[in-house]
Amino acid sequence: MFIAVEGIDGSGKSTTIAELEKFLTSRGHAVHRTAEPTGLDTGRAIRELLGQKSERPYTRHELALLFAADRLRHLEEEVEPALAAGKTVLTDRYLFSSLAYQSVDLPSEWVAALNRFARLPDTVIYIEVSIDTALSRLTRFRQNAEIFETRGFLEKLRANYERVLTEYADQVNIVRLDGEVAMGDIAADIEIRLSGIFPKKS
Ligand code: ADP
Ligand code: TYD
Repeated sequence: MFIAVEGIDGSGKSTTIAELEKFLTSRGHAVHRTAEPTGLDTGRAIRELLGQKSERPYTRHELALLFAADRLRHLEEEVEPALAAGKTVLTDRYLFSSLAYQSVDLPSEWVAALNRFARLPDTVIYIEVSIDTALSRLTRFRQNAEIFETRGFLEKLRANYERVLTEYADQVNIVRLDGEVAMGDIAADIEIRLSGIFPKKS
């Protein structure tokens, strides 16, 4: 089973994924946890470009191509082998991140075309959060907000995610989690929302 976790910056993705991993493990899944951008060469190139200290200029087209390249490498080298070994793959960001982020300032058809060979995940877990909550977490907890994290950008991003979730609703199992719940309640919320979808493996 291939599960992708998605959400805008500051949605609490990392925190939620840690709880999702515990939940799935308790249900008998052998979880392979991973993320995009990856730790592979392709992902490192992206982080270098996006990093605060980067002085190298890049175009949004180049970035979209790099994310797509990183995804295909991720699939081939990590995701597919783990799935073939019977693991449940849990990735922090995947295809919908490109469809939402890169489509903010590029034609969405072009972004989708670049990602044509990236298979769909079985399930997308989307963490829903208000822009105010996301911004307050980002400014409270991080010294340097990345380029992506201004209010206008987050609003467009959130709208793009909604569009993509609707567009793929009949092809992917989509689960929405409430990103506004208090930290201490995330595990219980996951239990309530996901128990029906991920029954205990025997
Ligand atoms: P993301 O991976 O989406 O950027 P993180 O999980 O790193 O988000 O969360 C960003 C910050 O917000 C972290 O410092 C975390 O402690 C805090 N945070 C995450 N989830 C919640 C929550 N449900 N309630 C309050 N604070 C949270
Ligand atoms: P990451 O370091 O995982 O940030 P976060 O912890 O907030 O998830 O990802 C770096 C940034 O890359 C993040 O702002 C989202 C963006 N991104 C895209 O624009 N397109 C993509 O396809 C992916 C996977 C990430």
